[in-house]
Amino acid sequence: MPIIKMNGLSKIYKTGKVSVEALRKIDIDIDENEFVAIVGPSGSGKSTLMNIIGCLDTPSTGDYYLDDEEVGRFGSNKLAEVRNRKIGFVFQNFNLLSYATTYENIELPLIFSGMPAKRRKTRTMELLDRVGLAERAAHKPTELSGGEMQRIAIARALANNPAILLADEPTGNLDSVSGGSIIEIFRELHADGATIVMITHDRHIADNIPRVIKLKDGGIVDSLN
Ligand SMILES: Nc1ncnc2c1ncn2[C@@H]1O[C@H](COP(=O)(O)OP(=O)(O)O)[C@@H](O)[C@H]1O
Ligand SMILES: [Mg+2]
Repeated sequence: MPIIKMNGLSKIYKTGKVSVEALRKIDIDIDENEFVAIVGPSGSGKSTLMNIIGCLDTPSTGDYYLDDEEVGRFGSNKLAEVRNRKIGFVFQNFNLLSYATTYENIELPLIFSGMPAKRRKTRTMELLDRVGLAERAAHKPTELSGGEMQRIAIARALANNPAILLADEPTGNLDSVSGGSIIEIFRELHADGATIVMITHDRHIADNIPRVIKLKDGGIVDSLN
């Protein structure tokens, strides 16, 4: 059983009398420990797909199974619970708390999940170390480069050992060298067993990812490499 399974999934946004079919009849199977890039032009439905995979939104029609649970039919409370337990998010704009230190940013999801203080400290330091920024624990995000901020965001996303790491254009705000170092971290995490789904519109980045799913006008063009 794949960890992500979608059958005939569609998403229609209705705004007043206008409706937009953002995803149409999507079939996707993603196994554990796959590293998948989702590519496609602006407006092709990439973020909509990622929001559904990440349990931030639900499909209009069709099925979505995440780790054997039919989450596509879940209400918002149950959906939030699955999201917190199973998904780690990385965003283009990092989404770090600017008034908190890098340490506190990473520790926050561990506080939310109820981890005791002592284990929290060990885990936070381990995560800082994992992204090579242990010596930056006391820094505020504004004192870091974009690439470093994104590494902190990755450490935070990994805090509660998510089943899936989801990234929406994680290199979109970075220069090519910093972007390359982020992809390198993803590669290492993948080699260590992580399941990663990453949106990118950078064809050069996608070319080096093991599996690429191409979207166009809300449909999959070609899910083979
Ligand atoms: N909340 C929304 N309400 C209405 N239309 C939306 C909403 N979000 C996205 N769309 C529309 O759905 C389509 C797909 O958008 P999106 O998933 O953001 O594409 P991408 O991430 O590939 O740029 C676009 O036509 C967009 O305008
Ligand atoms: Mg988008």
